[in-house]
Amino acid sequence: MHFPTLTLLAFACKTALAVPTPSRAAELPLPARTIFQLNETVPDTWFENIALRQNGDLLVTMLQPSASIYSIQQPLSGSPKASIINIDNANGLLGIVETAPDVFAVVAGIFSAPAVRKYLVPLTTSRDLFREKRALAQREYHLELLLLILHVLAVNGTMAVWEVDLRGPEPTTRLITKMPEAGILNGVALVPGCSPPAILVADTAISRVWRVDITTGEYETAAEIPEMLPAPNATLPLGVNGVKTRGEYLYFSNSNLASIFRLPIDKRGVAARDAEAELVAKVDADIIDDFLIDEEGKYWVATNFQNTVVVAETGSSGVVVAGATTQLTVAGDTALALGRGTKEDKNIVYAVTGGTLNRPVNGTVSEPAKVVAIDRTGFK
Ligand SMILES: *[C@@H]1O[C@H](CO)[C@@H](O)[C@H](O)[C@H]1NC(C)=O
Ligand SMILES: *[C@@H]1O[C@H](CO)[C@@H](O)[C@H](O)[C@H]1NC(C)=O
Ligand SMILES: *[C@@H]1O[C@H](CO)[C@@H](O)[C@H](O)[C@H]1NC(C)=O
Ligand SMILES: *[C@@H]1O[C@H](CO)[C@@H](O)[C@H](O)[C@H]1NC(C)=O
Repeated sequence: MHFPTLTLLAFACKTALAVPTPSRAAELPLPARTIFQLNETVPDTWFENIALRQNGDLLVTMLQPSASIYSIQQPLSGSPKASIINIDNANGLLGIVETAPDVFAVVAGIFSAPAVRKYLVPLTTSRDLFREKRALAQREYHLELLLLILHVLAVNGTMAVWEVDLRGPEPTTRLITKMPEAGILNGVALVPGCSPPAILVADTAISRVWRVDITTGEYETAAEIPEMLPAPNATLPLGVNGVKTRGEYLYFSNSNLASIFRLPIDKRGVAARDAEAELVAKVDADIIDDFLIDEEGKYWVATNFQNTVVVAETGSSGVVVAGATTQLTVAGDTALALGRGTKEDKNIVYAVTGGTLNRPVNGTVSEPAKVVAIDRTGFK
């Protein structure tokens, strides 16, 4: 009875051995090249997040020094053109997601970070604090304290969600809602198939995910669970960070725990009161930032200070596919995005970086923010 099956298997194996596999597993690290980088004319630049338009153009958000979206056209052309869309009443942007074809939601806020101050009216209350912390930072606590400067000095009550509409001849922007109760809004995801459309927004400061109705601007708590909290003893407390939706789940990264969890949500994007999160990947890194989920359900993770991109399958701790601690390749990577399936970009994973602002490579080498194209052809 089993014989025919065995024969078939044996035959299949023989064939596989005899014929060279068409796409050999890619060697690591994967090829990675910088396709766009700012220069020193704007100091202390930090790219925070990225979304793709359906035509393959990139929308890259800047956390500092200004609330700008860099719209990068034909990113793989070798000489991409960039134009800038500015968001009002803010000096930094974070997560971005497409909510309808060529319409995006983006998170904005006011940060009293050092570079920001050169461009805006100084926020005098925090100036002395900053000076003191920078003096310390330059000595030994570079990483932790600079990040504290960047994050803790997010001005309380200034967070907001904006819409950017690219359907017309010129981009238009619209305030969806201010969220004065929010701490630091970070990653953003669309609730799949929800009408009217809604987004989920991670709040890294108060360890919660909000649901925002983008038509009315009404918002509420979508999830607030222990897995979103920073590690109890972390020097730099950062919990929930990146968020994605897939099927009936919200996936989120917890920076301190270097982990990705998933949580069941309802059609509106809200988690049941007793919903439990499930750990899907614990990455081998000190800290992680945002991530993406590819077609096969693998997690591509930006490790920021670790200067690498790690790919983890469910239950695995992952493999480094780009960068290294001592290399600038993807140094300070904050977020990743997949090409949208045009012939040219189908195998490209874009990484954006915070320009090693917080942790120069080898302690001394830093560079402006950039966008890197990683070629995953043949990677399995
Ligand atoms: C720096 O970038 C700006 C804006 O892209 C550009 O206009 C300028 O020429 C660049 N400067 C240098 C020195 O490359
Ligand atoms: C931010 O402001 C709110 C009131 O709007 C207050 O309840 C909260 O404690 C403040 N948070 C911080 C970190 O100061
Ligand atoms: C932080 O907590 C973890 C366990 O929760 C413990 O293993 C670790 O030693 C603690 N680190 C410090 C610096 O206290
Ligand atoms: C950092 O130091 C290592 C070891 O000396 C070296 O190989 C690497 O090129 C340095 N990185 C940069 C960006 O200079």
